[in-house]
Amino acid sequence: MSNRLGVVKTPFLGLPLLKEIQADPLTAATRLQHQCGDVAEFEILFRRIVYFFSPEAVRKVLVDHHDDFERETRLLHIFESFQGRNVLTTEGADWERQRRLLTPAFSPKRMDGYMNLMQAAIDSCVSEELPTVPGQHPSVDVDAFTTRITMDVILRTLFSHASSREETRQASLAIRALSRQSMREVYWTFVPPGWLPYPGRAAKMRNLQSLRRLIAAHVDARLRHRSESRTEAPAVGDVLDMMLQAGDDDARLSTQEILDNCMLLFGAGFDTSASALTWWIGLMATHPEVMGELRREVDAACADRLDLAGMARLPFLNATIKEAMRIYPPSTALFTRVAKRDMAIAGTAVRKGTLVVAPIWQMHRNERYFANPETFAPRRFLPGAPAIPRGAFMPFGAGPRFCLGQQFASVEIALIAAHLVRHFELDLESGDELPQPFVDLALKPKTPMKVRFLRRDGARRAATRAVGI
Ligand code: HEM
Repeated sequence: MSNRLGVVKTPFLGLPLLKEIQADPLTAATRLQHQCGDVAEFEILFRRIVYFFSPEAVRKVLVDHHDDFERETRLLHIFESFQGRNVLTTEGADWERQRRLLTPAFSPKRMDGYMNLMQAAIDSCVSEELPTVPGQHPSVDVDAFTTRITMDVILRTLFSHASSREETRQASLAIRALSRQSMREVYWTFVPPGWLPYPGRAAKMRNLQSLRRLIAAHVDARLRHRSESRTEAPAVGDVLDMMLQAGDDDARLSTQEILDNCMLLFGAGFDTSASALTWWIGLMATHPEVMGELRREVDAACADRLDLAGMARLPFLNATIKEAMRIYPPSTALFTRVAKRDMAIAGTAVRKGTLVVAPIWQMHRNERYFANPETFAPRRFLPGAPAIPRGAFMPFGAGPRFCLGQQFASVEIALIAAHLVRHFELDLESGDELPQPFVDLALKPKTPMKVRFLRRDGARRAATRAVGI
């Protein structure tokens, strides 16, 4: 119910609306957008909340007025209880220092080195999980496959550690359970202190312990190795190495901060990339004409291994990845800020303490900026296509807190995607209809997405047989 443009009446302290958002944040935000247009304002439990659906307003919040907003304290507390105090869960000077010290590990010039580690993960996981013999075409649970491969990538690039299938299976079960628990806690009306027994606490503690053990074992081993070698340890060339070397005597990451940031980078480093790849694979499996065009580009551009220069020669591959992230943005949840003072944003009064939401899903599907927004049309991202307005496409966020791993994720996703295009035909088992998405921190398929992976030379042989050659 709306009593004037943009203002939504929320009876019963807004609890029914809170329940609606909690059950399905994407559908709830779409309903608010249809009801209100570019701005939806309401109160839940006396808290003012504003959804800004226009890119202009969202850029004002994240970029132009970033100093006037902060991350929500309650959200930071919840994430801190999972990951400790890292670059995601801190604010102000603490965040600035950690971000400055971590940035070199994710600079473009580090990517060449990481690409070798990424390629090793791709070769190993593809040979373990996908058919190696022409003619085989098993049906694969896409999300399990992309989780396996992106987790191996992050473990190799963080710690130079090649993971086993069982190790990634265990860790991904723990991460999934923790993601669900964190999404649950975010919508609780009361955040219980850590010592109080609350629903899900025991499983949360158990899963956290097993993940912390995994991360701490790598960090401890590296610290031991450095201290035993007594001289400045030779660089291994992974992200942990960069963290240990970062800064000077005035500003360094403490051992605890290194552990907490490894917890964050491990989770953030594979879950969102896995989500991006899952939806990309689903879209390619249902758009064979796009796949055919892409294959011609990839075959022409790379003889064997891709390097950074080679990637620049793959505009259509990059366009398909961007278009997949437009339709299915991996990180849609909890993109929020709190106003530190009274102000006006794009003509809307925003009072101090207001929770501002940037609903990326709806922004990416706004027909004002994207013609036929539900259609998979990668050409809209090709050089020479009409310019996309600033802020209308922001899978990695914007402003000073934009994704630290943007370059890393882009290289990783392109490497994996190029490998799949060159070696496999993809075919969605259930026909043309992709599963519905749901927000599980990252955007995941609600029901398993099953795709048949058919080795390409096998596909060609089958086609040749079919025409009797
Ligand atoms: C497709 C993959 C990815 C997507 C879509 C994505 C998306 C995002 C978004 C939207 C934010 C900003 C949230 C906000 O402003 O509130 C963010 C922050 C962040 N991301 Fe990513 N991310 C991806 C991959 C990665 C990877 C691979 C890493 C690291 C290896 C990473 C590390 C981080 C970190 C550390 C932050 C917090 C930055 C800060 O607060 O200063 N992300 N990511």
